[in-house]
Amino acid sequence: MELSPKTIEHFRNPKNVGEIENPEGTGDILNPVCGDKTVLYLRIREGVIEDAKFLSFGCAVTIASASVFTEKIKGQRISELLSGTDEGIIRQLISLIEGELGEIPPAKLHCPPATVQVFLEAVSRYLEKEGEAQMSSRIKGLIPKVSEYYQRGEKAEEAV
Ligand code: FES
Repeated sequence: MELSPKTIEHFRNPKNVGEIENPEGTGDILNPVCGDKTVLYLRIREGVIEDAKFLSFGCAVTIASASVFTEKIKGQRISELLSGTDEGIIRQLISLIEGELGEIPPAKLHCPPATVQVFLEAVSRYLEKEGEAQMSSRIKGLIPKVSEYYQRGEKAEEAV
């Protein structure tokens, strides 16, 4: 399976690459499947994501995922992005990426979850700094649950 036109477009011309000085939230990840690194920076004002930027030393799908995701979350209220069940929140965040990029090759299905994981980490750090310890630890608790989504590619390939 080939990369979708949207994935190629975002890979060739990624949006929001760079850093934010003194970000309210930041997170970084080494993808547990391949070791590629992504760092996310968030500018948050009164619970709204005003700006989001990323740096990635990853594959085309990872760069496209972070590009789409940062575009989608800008202007969004954190409380809305993180409402619902644990499973629902993770699915909703992943679908922000996959709904836009279209079909992703099974061998690359571990790439979009890395962007979601790094976002959850950045938000949980932000909430902690804001004194919202309970919400911060709930969001931090979602991170291990993202790990199930890293395995989707292997499951898809086994099913073939
Ligand atoms: Fe490493 Fe996509 S993140 S292969």
